Amino acid sequence: MEINGARVAVTGASGGLGCAISRALDACGARLILTGRREDALEKLASQLRGADIVVCDLADRKQLAGLVDRLVDVDILIANAALAATGKLDDFTPDELDRALDVNLRAPMMLTHQLLPGMIRRGRGHFVYISPIAGKIPSPRLPVYSATKYGLRGFSASLRQDLHGSGVSASVIFPGSVVDSGMLADAGLGAAPGSKGTSSDAVGHGVVTAIERDRAEVDVAELPIRFASRLGGLAPGLMARLTQRKQSIAYADQLSLGLRHHR
Ligand SMILES: NC(=O)c1ccc[n+]([C@@H]2O[C@H](COP(=O)([O-])OP(=O)(O)OC[C@H]3O[C@@H](n4cnc5c(N)ncnc54)[C@H](OP(=O)(O)O)[C@@H]3O)[C@@H](O)[C@H]2O)c1
Repeated sequence: MEINGARVAVTGASGGLGCAISRALDACGARLILTGRREDALEKLASQLRGADIVVCDLADRKQLAGLVDRLVDVDILIANAALAATGKLDDFTPDELDRALDVNLRAPMMLTHQLLPGMIRRGRGHFVYISPIAGKIPSPRLPVYSATKYGLRGFSASLRQDLHGSGVSASVIFPGSVVDSGMLADAGLGAAPGSKGTSSDAVGHGVVTAIERDRAEVDVAELPIRFASRLGGLAPGLMARLTQRKQSIAYADQLSLGLRHHR
């Protein structure tokens, strides 16, 4: 689908990857709607782009989410990027934290898709892009809640894509590895996962553009060994689970749980 002139909404535009994705789409001529909770960060980003609207919305709040839908009726492309890292063992979560992670990471993207899809079908064009970490394909310790939401997005997108075949509307998932220059890991002072140098937020922006322009079902944005591991995760999940149970991986997962504890 052509991005130039398209109306594009980006959730989580106030965050690290959301900013980079918005810049990449702006450079392709998109007319952007930026959403997030922090108005100051959205305004700052909008002032650096060629012209973008902003909508402040807490995706965990059902009334605010309904209000956001009303503002996005004419959107051609949705980038569902906002998420909470929701790291840690399941028994560390309160029921409220569990609900919030499900609401922000999975329910909001599904609900936005459900509400925006009829308009796109009528117009005969549209694209949904869901942002998931590679942990949305590889079993990783200390991430049962985050993984549930991101594996969920992958299944949602893959099945939706099949139902939309021939309609002019499509869906893609982008799978970045550890992003080291901005975003949740960088903000918490955390480095890339063991065995990885990490990737950049600009590469993620490029991946989003590729997925839309070439209508790719999935785009991995990571170095070759990590992309290979993600394929292996699909072919042999048991083997992959044993590999990610190594001491080094568990230590990194514990670091993530601690560093991103505020992401609930
Ligand atoms: N960073 C990485 O290494 C990495 C790797 C792979 C995939 N990802 C994925 O990339 C996406 C963006 O992550 P990031 O690293 O850019 O994280 P980030 O900098 O923490 O940004 C998260 C974004 O989500 C928004 N958000 C969180 N809770 C929200 C809520 N209740 N309502 C509305 N918006 C909410 C935040 O908005 P406010 O700040 O305005 O509240 C912020 O814009 C996520 O889907 C993540 O899973 C990240």
